[in-house]
Amino acid sequence: MSVQVEDLSYSYGSLQALKGVSLHLPPGAVGLLGPNGAGKSTLLRILLGFLSPDKGEGKVLGYDIQNNQFMIRRFVGYMPENDCIIPGMDAVTFTSFMAELSGMPKQEAIKRAHEVLFYVGLEESRYRNLETYSGGMKQRLKLAQALVHDPRLIFLDEPTSGLDPGGRKEILKLIKEISTEKNIQTLISSHILSDIEEVCSYVVILNRGQLAAQGEMANLKQLHYRLYELKVKESNPQFWQRLKEIDCRIEETEEGLIKVYMSAGKSHQEIFKIAAEEGVQIRHFVKSQTRLEDLFAKVVGVD
Ligand SMILES: Nc1ncnc2c1ncn2[C@@H]1O[C@H](COP(=O)(O)OP(=O)(O)OP(=O)(O)O)[C@@H](O)[C@H]1O
Ligand SMILES: [Mg+2]
Repeated sequence: MSVQVEDLSYSYGSLQALKGVSLHLPPGAVGLLGPNGAGKSTLLRILLGFLSPDKGEGKVLGYDIQNNQFMIRRFVGYMPENDCIIPGMDAVTFTSFMAELSGMPKQEAIKRAHEVLFYVGLEESRYRNLETYSGGMKQRLKLAQALVHDPRLIFLDEPTSGLDPGGRKEILKLIKEISTEKNIQTLISSHILSDIEEVCSYVVILNRGQLAAQGEMANLKQLHYRLYELKVKESNPQFWQRLKEIDCRIEETEEGLIKVYMSAGKSHQEIFKIAAEEGVQIRHFVKSQTRLEDLFAKVVGVD
């Protein structure tokens, strides 16, 4: 992907939303993952030139984010997280208007509007007043307007927001198709891991305005720690305390399973040793698949 930024910082008044973020994104579909308030939308707005960074620099498709916004908007499609509809308009008028704003001639804009509305499955509702659209239809419309001017790169800010499971699945399928078959580079922000897992091969995790982790999805999953699941007979607080002291992170599931995250450098034999010393009987012990969800919880420090 042609997005490169170095040491980007941005503050809203006294609130520092981005604190020195540097990124070099690969081609394909990239996930921008982070909890609420992590700075995802701020980063996208800076990349589009809507906000000017306090510090740092960046390029999108080789164009400087501060001096070449016109070219960036010509070649980049943007699906904002909030509603961007214009009340009273229908989908064809709105989408072709957005295409014209990106520099497309009127006739071509209208033709393309019909095509993309068809593509996102809104062909039957394309002349309806947008105010009557459901949440799912609005998301599709936002996707259509991001694609209408034939961008080489699209930024999708929380594309599955407000969708039910069926709607979420459909839009993710569409996004996957856009990034693979249509060969449009895609940067998708989300706080939902499964969204990113489904579509992206590379992920960037932001937390509190800073880069928490980044890498190939497959590599990240087996990052620096191992996950074991165990059950014990008669728990003993001292046992858990001692595991924490050797840098294990402990998490109890609803089913009574205990998850123990252990740094890759340590041996699981230590768990057995401490259990024996504390008189704890381990009744179940398996090495588990580390899911991205677990990694995410770890890097953003959620317990
Ligand atoms: N216009 C604004 N004025 C003041 N503070 C803002 C503004 N926009 C965002 N912030 C703050 O900046 C921080 C980063 O916000 P941002 O919207 O970039 O996060 P996000 O990762 O997109 O979160 P979400 O998942 O909730 O969309 C948050 O603390 C937020 O409250
Ligand atoms: Mg956001």
